[in-house]
Amino acid sequence: MKLKRIVLGVTGGVAAYKAAELARLLVKDGIDVQVVMSAAARHFVGAATFQAITGHPVFSDLWDERVVDTPPDPALPAGSPPEGAKKHLGRPGAFLVSGMAHIDLTRGADAILVAPASADFLAKLVHGRADDLLSTLCLARDCPLLVAPAMNRQMWEAPATRRNVAQLSSDGVTVLGPDSGEQACGEVGFGRMLEPDALLDALEARFQPKRFAGLKVVITAGPTFEAIDAVRGLTNPSSGKMGYAVARAALEAGAEVTLISGRTCLPPPRDARFMPVVSAQDMLTVVESVVDDADIFISVAAVADYYVLNPSEQKIKKDAHILTLELAPNPDILAGISSREKPPFCVGFAAESENIEEYAELKRRRKHLPLIVANDVKEAVGSDSVRLILLDEAGRHVLEKADKQTQARLLVAHIAELYNTRYQ
Ligand code: C5P
Repeated sequence: MKLKRIVLGVTGGVAAYKAAELARLLVKDGIDVQVVMSAAARHFVGAATFQAITGHPVFSDLWDERVVDTPPDPALPAGSPPEGAKKHLGRPGAFLVSGMAHIDLTRGADAILVAPASADFLAKLVHGRADDLLSTLCLARDCPLLVAPAMNRQMWEAPATRRNVAQLSSDGVTVLGPDSGEQACGEVGFGRMLEPDALLDALEARFQPKRFAGLKVVITAGPTFEAIDAVRGLTNPSSGKMGYAVARAALEAGAEVTLISGRTCLPPPRDARFMPVVSAQDMLTVVESVVDDADIFISVAAVADYYVLNPSEQKIKKDAHILTLELAPNPDILAGISSREKPPFCVGFAAESENIEEYAELKRRRKHLPLIVANDVKEAVGSDSVRLILLDEAGRHVLEKADKQTQARLLVAHIAELYNTRYQ
């Protein structure tokens, strides 16, 4: 689901300045943003900033006046004063509205996101207080509520805050973060608001359709490493970014995800079963131990084609002679799984440097895959964005260049469509 309209609540805290950047990212993403600030938030950042970014006046108080250009009730004839309208402004169809009519600020909103959400505001939500505009909107809403807490480490760890956060989660409120790190007060610990780009990502993730609900998905990612001796090995520059993005997209779509990964610098996605491996043989062993009850197997890993036959246990000493390594082919993990009698739905990746589609399609047929994802090795490896070509029985589907998380979500949608046609 594409988010169209959100109410961004800003409460009092140093992180309020980051809410301006968040508003900018949301607007850039094509989302209509209505900002509502608490009185305390106005001590940290000015309403004019948000107004300029979002193009909408900012509200704080239940009794603020605002101009309404069209009657909110489509049942009324055009030009009729909306409920609570005070004064005709002289512009046709324009009225000054104040009072409880503000409740309609959330009408048509897909979500309310409160960022930053102070400890005090969380406490207010828990108790259903409605003593200002933002808390009233949160109580009177009919859309999901997300909060991004931001506070000092000790406030976050206080038993009262722990109780409040647990209560909000069980009330169905989505709690995003907080992060750990350096705080405005100079302390280090949990309580920092998630960065604006992470919040945008988490917001979008929350609204992804649950296309993989009830499905078990196994994903391989990253490079493999084939030991030469105690410290050296054969590997490749795969960053793991695409595989991790696919794991996150599958989680967002409601799957139970196992991520089997070679060495990368990436943090494993929260909520995935994470199984780190080193060599192709390790990867094969771990895949075989979990794939039996998988519904879908997505092989994104850049598996080394060869391993070193007799790796040295000790570090090989340098001398003037030519060193010869004997290499033997690694097992093809994906081909092994897809040729099982009852294979899961198998998806492969093909990173090619020339004749991309032709070589990828040959691989798809050779490995008996319903779907293979082709990309240009020069563009894909290690980068943040990529163009993908999905090849399946029906032909080709191009996903024009975009960031890997966006591509992963589109890929999950495509897999779900093929999977449902095949099994339902
Ligand atoms: O290396 P190749 O281009 O054949 O990789 C195509 C697909 O096969 C990829 O999805 C990759 O993860 C998988 N593969 C594998 N085991 C190998 C080699 C490749 O699972 N030994």
